[in-house]
Parts: sequence; C-alpha cells; structure tokens
Amino acid sequence: ASNRKLLILPGDGIGPEVMGTVRKVIDWMDRRRAVSFDVDEDLVGGAAIDKHGAPVTDATVDKAMNCDAVLLGAVGGPKWDDLPFERKPERGLLRLRKDLGLYANLRPAICFDALVEASTLKPEIVAGLDIMIIRELTGGVYFGEPRGIETLPNGERRGVNTQVYTTSEIRRVAAVAFDLARKRSNRVCSVEKANVMESGVLWREEVTKLHGEQFSDVELSHMYADNCAMQLVRAPKQFDVIVTDNLFGDMLSDAAAMLTGSLGMLPSASLGDVDESGRRKSLYEPVHGSAPDIAGQGKANPLATLLSYAMSLRYTFDLPEDADLIEQAVNNVLAKGLRTPDIMASGMAAVSTATMTDALIQELDKMAA
Ligand code: NAD
Ligand code: IPM
Ligand code: MN
Repeated sequence: ASNRKLLILPGDGIGPEVMGTVRKVIDWMDRRRAVSFDVDEDLVGGAAIDKHGAPVTDATVDKAMNCDAVLLGAVGGPKWDDLPFERKPERGLLRLRKDLGLYANLRPAICFDALVEASTLKPEIVAGLDIMIIRELTGGVYFGEPRGIETLPNGERRGVNTQVYTTSEIRRVAAVAFDLARKRSNRVCSVEKANVMESGVLWREEVTKLHGEQFSDVELSHMYADNCAMQLVRAPKQFDVIVTDNLFGDMLSDAAAMLTGSLGMLPSASLGDVDESGRRKSLYEPVHGSAPDIAGQGKANPLATLLSYAMSLRYTFDLPEDADLIEQAVNNVLAKGLRTPDIMASGMAAVSTATMTDALIQELDKMAA
C-alpha cells in the first residue's frame, strides 16, 4: 500500500469519462515512475443521490477528511435539476468544500502554444498567457446567512442571499495570493466592487493592510470586478495573480477559460489550512461542469481533469517533476494536433476522449523511455 491517499469522486455526466483518463495516467505513474497511490473511489452528486438519497454522505465526507487529496470530476445534470435545493447534486460539492475548509481555489489559465488558434480571441491577445485566478471558496454569497425563499404577508415571494466576509476570511485567501505571486511575476490584482458593496470595502481595506504588514515586496493593485471582466478579454496578459471573492471568482474564471481555448482546459486546486501534522486538505477538480450536452458521447476533453491531477502532484504530493511530465505530455499531444471537438480548429479532425487518452499514454511512454 502507498502512503499517498487519493479519493476519487467521478460524479456525473462527463465526470466519470474524464476521470477514466486520470485513472489510466495513475496506472502509468505506478508502472513507469514507481509512484503509487492508495486510490479509493466513491460517489458524489447525482450518482450519490441515486444510490443514497443525498448528494454526499457523511461517510464520503469522512473519507475526504482522511485522505491526502480528493480528485473530483463534476456534478449535476438535468435529471436532478428539479430536486429541492438542499438535495441538489451541487450541494454535495459545496458541502465538501465547506467541511474541508478549502478556502483558496487556484484556477490557473494557461494558453498552450498549440491552442493559440483555438481561443475565440485574437492570437496576440492570448499567446503566452499564464495567469492565476484565486477564488475565495468557502464564504461570500455562496454561504452567507440569512438565505432562503420566503412568502411575504402580501403573498409575494422573496429570495434572499447574503454576501458576507470577515477579516480573517479575507486575510487568509489574500495571503495565499501574495505567497503565490512571489513564486510567479510578483503581482497581485485584488478584485471586488468596493464602489457598491460594504463587503468589497472591507475586502480592499484588509488586503491593503495585510500587504503593508507582510507582503510589501509584492506589487498590489485593485480593480472593480466589472472592469476586470472587461480587462480579461481586452488584455489578459496584464494580470499575474487575481484574488477575488467566491461569486466573482466563479464568473471570472469561466471567462478566463476561453482565453485558453476551452473550458475543457482549465484545472483547479482547492486548498485549506496546513494542520498540526503539516498536512493541507485539498481537492482538485476541473473548472467545468458535467456537460450534459455531450455526456456519454466520447467527446469530453479530459485535459482539465488531468491537469487538476497534475496540480495535486505539485501542491499535495510534492512531486513537481511528475507534474511537469504530465503537463509536458499534454503540451506535446496538443502540438501533434490531437484535439477533442471543443478545441478543434477549422480543418482539423476531432478525436474522442479515448483516443486522446491513448495518445497521452503513448507520449508519456516516449518521454519516460
Ligand atoms: P458545463 O461546464 O457543464 O458546460 C458548459 C459548456 O462547456 C457545455 O457546452 C459543455 O459541453 C462544454 N464543456 C464543459 N466541459 C467540457 C469538456 N471537458 N470538454 C468539452 N466540452 C466541455 O456547465 P453547465 O452546462 O452550465 O452546467 C451543467 C451542469 O454541471 C449543471 O448541473 C451545473 O450545476 C454543473 N456544474 C458543475 C460543476 C462542478 O462540478 N464543479 C461546475 C460547473 C457546473
Ligand atoms: C464551479 C461550479 C460550482 C460553483 C457549482 C457547481 C456549485 O460552477 O466549481 O465553478 O458555482 O462553485
Ligand atoms: Mn463555475
């Protein structure tokens, strides 16, 4: 048995399809790199609802608490859309993030050279792009109280959600951003709407204070979220690290995905605090969802999920060379022209998820030879 405990939660839709690719690469790592994992697999999302009546069970949360890293595919789909709110597949993912305390969600948007033409933006806008969006993941309007739907005395209904941030919530995610910036181009852009939201005013004040106290060597700028959305498609290379709240981070990272060619390219790492034993709870997942429109057709791009696994090698398992190897293999198969439909350029033939996977394994074999 290995001392690297990995919990795989494939989830719904294309989740199990893209996770199949990762399982093959995990087998390859064992075979060719003598890097083994103790892999457990369980249900989350609609799959867990169908079997257990809940989008994640306590037993699964326990397993997630007690492994080194969780690797998650995607949750959700039309089959479960009409369930009451608390039982929807998405609640399973949100509970995992909250219970594991995964407050820092790293979403790197990197444009591989071979995919410059796959972006809907002009090549010169995206060529060489390498930005890191850090999304706060356990606070804000996703979890704020009060929340709910109520009926007013006059018979009208009212839906309520609350945007809340505390000093410590802001400081800990900003610290992650400053730390990471130091290992990159040393620039952080903090994004909120301090012009209309008090939580944004506090966000800006606390980020500025922390910067002055501990990170004054890092270049800090501030931007309103609406302007940031515009700047991301106008001139994305102006950014190095962006740090922002839960909801803005969700939207800005989907927008950033298109800079890389496809949502099917964007990986993520969700990290918590380092505990007494020096371990940091972590969950890795692609930024995309269960893509019901293409599920079961062998069309899913597995690279976002594979790159998420590579992030686990870097951030949890301290295997940076193996992470590099996988990222290089991705780069090489793309350079050879292998494309799932979402990243296909005109005049190119698309390949299936399975063919892409085989090509990745062949490439890894070649690189390790
Ligand atoms: P989505 O990300 O599933 O799909 C958006 C579009 O991108 C679709 O056209 C889809 O085909 C395409 N796409 C996404 N991933 C792809 C991939 N790997 N390869 C090729 N094409 C890909 O978003 P949606 O359609 O808004 O949501 C569908 C379901 O997924 C919903 O139930 C939603 O709540 C859920 N969702 C889950 C997660 C998650 O588990 N982390 C994230 C986003 C959405
Ligand atoms: C994401 C997704 C999730 C979110 C949903 C599925 C809960 O869109 O991971 O980006 O909104 O955080
Ligand atoms: Mn999202």
